[in-house]
Amino acid sequence: MPHDSERPDPIDELKALTSRAQALGGEASEERQHKQGKLTARERIDLLLDPGSFSELNLFVESRATDFGMDARRSPGDGVITGSGYVNGQLVFVASQDFGALGGSLGEMHAEKIVKMQELAMKAGAPIVTILDSGGARIHEGVLALHGYAQIFHNNTQASGVIPQISIIVGPCAGGAVYSPAITDFVFMVDGLSKMFITGPEVIKAVTGEDVTVEELGGGAVHSSTSGNAHFLAKDERECFAMVKKLLSFLPSNNLDDPPLAETPEWPPDENPELDGVVPAEATNPYDVRDLITNVFDDGDFLEVHADFAKNIVVGFARLKGRPVGVVGNQPTHLAGVLDIDSSDKLARFVRFCDAFNLPLINFVDVPGYLPGTQQEYGGVIRHGAKVLFAYSEANVPKVALIVRKSYGGAYIAMSGFGLGYDRVLAYPFAEIAVMGPEGAANIIFRREIGEAEDPDKVREEKIDEYRTLFAKPYTAAKYGLVDVIIEPRQTRGALIRALEMTAHKREDRPRKKHGNIPL
Ligand code: HXC
Repeated sequence: MPHDSERPDPIDELKALTSRAQALGGEASEERQHKQGKLTARERIDLLLDPGSFSELNLFVESRATDFGMDARRSPGDGVITGSGYVNGQLVFVASQDFGALGGSLGEMHAEKIVKMQELAMKAGAPIVTILDSGGARIHEGVLALHGYAQIFHNNTQASGVIPQISIIVGPCAGGAVYSPAITDFVFMVDGLSKMFITGPEVIKAVTGEDVTVEELGGGAVHSSTSGNAHFLAKDERECFAMVKKLLSFLPSNNLDDPPLAETPEWPPDENPELDGVVPAEATNPYDVRDLITNVFDDGDFLEVHADFAKNIVVGFARLKGRPVGVVGNQPTHLAGVLDIDSSDKLARFVRFCDAFNLPLINFVDVPGYLPGTQQEYGGVIRHGAKVLFAYSEANVPKVALIVRKSYGGAYIAMSGFGLGYDRVLAYPFAEIAVMGPEGAANIIFRREIGEAEDPDKVREEKIDEYRTLFAKPYTAAKYGLVDVIIEPRQTRGALIRALEMTAHKREDRPRKKHGNIPL
């Protein structure tokens, strides 16, 4: 197109403005990030998305703030890159904060870009990945920054259960800013790089007198093991983005889609002899439930979620004949696999995610019950444990339980009780299903006989044996129809495949309501 020679060529102008805007904080910012062992906002997007697939939104947006000299400190893009692209061919929406622009702080326009991206993702029915590296609310912009966060939290909540939302913390994430990741489905952190806290070490020192380092307070290790705020911990950013891509491979784009089907692998076979030796016959001997899981699901591939938090329950994603499923297993190597406050929270949240996104649930049950003790009772194990019952009762995806060894009491109900709406309940021949373990049961119901006996220990042993013979087998439950089928361990994969095929097109309506009121 001809143009006035006095004015710059519009195409050249576009190119110059684009390249200026794409440089974000420029070389100094890039150098600073790299010096701190961090990637830049754009490098992170490149690591996440299929090459050349990124479409950027609002490249030319800038801050409108003028107070505190902000008019002289505007940066193109206002400290965040937003847009969409593809991860292994699946459409996703992305925001990546640029710490080089005013510490990645969130002002009015920065927030507006994120809000717009969130709204587009919801309309498109595609997952959101947010990459956070920020000093929080931009102090210069006051209430407008807070308003921005409010809109983001509101959209996070509207999108919850509609599209998967993933947060990646690759720098600071402090103050109220932490609540966006906390509302999303999965939080990834990088060891030594990510820091997440409500109030920092200085404020803590001033208020409580405690001395704590940033890493001890809000590093990846502490959040992935102690607080449970992070679901995944990576050793570096590259590993982190690879893990995010793997997680996305199990997920549908939205709540109306089915999870993506993969090819059926060659291993393991439907009848797998490797499984025969995994569970020790003696009920008190531990084994690692992951040895069952990896011998049952496609290629032994299992993406564990919350691997270092509440280790007494194992949750994660796997595939059965190409179909993604949510897998749950009590972990006998940790606290004998009991349910307690943290494992109940971990489990209930996972179940609700799977239910929202059409992932069938498969439970490997070996649970002696809920953890006794004042610490648990005072901490609210009743309301936390109730979440598990609520989450499973509410879930109407296919629900299959395999009772591996013990399934006692309330934990039996939660994880394998037909009454809760399980579609199939399978059991190994050495499964024990009862209100409680034989020792505890005999001491209660035969207290008088044991107390009055000449040899109380002998009578106790006899009564324990009597109880065990009657209840500590799956046949009593099978007689009442509360166990469908009893299988040998080697038959597990084939039996689970049939159970899923039988329930693949399950439809189960729920009463119309605004929403339930899950115990917290
Ligand atoms: C404006 C900010 C900023 C902020 C950092 N910067 N945080 N500017 N608003 N919140 C700027 C710094 O002034 C500096 O500008 C540049 O970003 C880099 O910051 P440094 O401090 O030099 O970096 P570093 O030493 O790596 O420390 C990073 C940090 C620290 C730990 C994040 O900057 C910090 O503590 N920032 C404040 C954190 C905070 O309290 N935020 C508010 C939380 S409350 P120059 O000009 O030097 O390059 C909140 C409310 C949300 O977010 C409410 C929602 C409910």
